[in-house]
Amino acid sequence: MGYPKVTIVGAGNVGANAGLLLAMKELADIVLIDVADGVAKGKALDIMHMRSNEQFGPSVIGTGDYKDTADSEIVVVTAGVPRKPGMTREDLLKINSGIVSSVLEGALPVSPNALYIFVTNPLDVMTNLAFDIAKLPKQQLFGMGGVLDTARFIHSIALRTGAEPSQIEAMVIGAHGEGMLPLPRLATVNGKPLLELLSKEQIDDIASDTVQGGAAVVELLQTGSAFYAPASSIALMVKEILAPTGRVLSVCSRLEGEYGIDGLHMCVPTVLGRSGVERIVELELDDEELSKLIQAAESIKSQL
Ligand code: APR
Repeated sequence: MGYPKVTIVGAGNVGANAGLLLAMKELADIVLIDVADGVAKGKALDIMHMRSNEQFGPSVIGTGDYKDTADSEIVVVTAGVPRKPGMTREDLLKINSGIVSSVLEGALPVSPNALYIFVTNPLDVMTNLAFDIAKLPKQQLFGMGGVLDTARFIHSIALRTGAEPSQIEAMVIGAHGEGMLPLPRLATVNGKPLLELLSKEQIDDIASDTVQGGAAVVELLQTGSAFYAPASSIALMVKEILAPTGRVLSVCSRLEGEYGIDGLHMCVPTVLGRSGVERIVELELDDEELSKLIQAAESIKSQL
């Protein structure tokens, strides 16, 4: 049986784990590509050695040559330098923007019809930059940020309410960084509004843990940034593209007038499908939420 081809650029912690999850979920044949081609090949071989234990069908190959990525259905870009303790996402901007341009130079000519998912931080800036360079339709190029922030928000709600993550509906939109906007007013646990279940202080703590979630992992690891939850967030987006269910995910999508914001990628509720961004959902935000979203948009714009 043939699987869709998904290329993951950057076979580091995030990229390799995303490849592993996608293969184990039987979603796609994976090409891992990295400037350190031995790392890509070694990790691919290591994953292939799991196949008899785990009984998954897809293949995982490693390479340093973009020819091997030709005709991918999806290209996920995780190449970059991860955030170190004390480093802001913005510090990463300079180094990672050079990497993102070189990745597009390699991947675009051989996979012009692929959907491109950007993961490299600072995510919002990298996705906007990539959109400007790639000149692809807005449906075809977007970023992973809000799915991860939402996963952290739901984890934090689950911890404080004792509910299972599956019983919680919640979303984080905005920037993937300090300008992220958890939406507790719209969150529910078993259908009940979160605001009726917890105190304002508890909800403020949840929002703060969500915003600080990535930094908390960085502080503990000391030698890198989060990768399991980012990899799982990539896998969820790829799954919604290859086997769409209509689920609304927070995706770094191109806004053209939605929420009063024009010509900018940022994390907003999005329905993904085989053509990429199928639809942006416009939530009914209150004045405070909307003004925070617009503030986040201004902050992203100021970094471009
Ligand atoms: N082309 C291909 N691969 C590259 C390039 C490039 N131009 N430049 C760097 N890489 C590779 C590195 O060799 C490394 O294997 O990208 C990989 C990055 O992996 P890690 O250092 O382990 O970083 P990781 O934790 O995976 O994070 C990757 O995702 O979440 C974000 O902030 C994170 O921007 C970072 C990215």
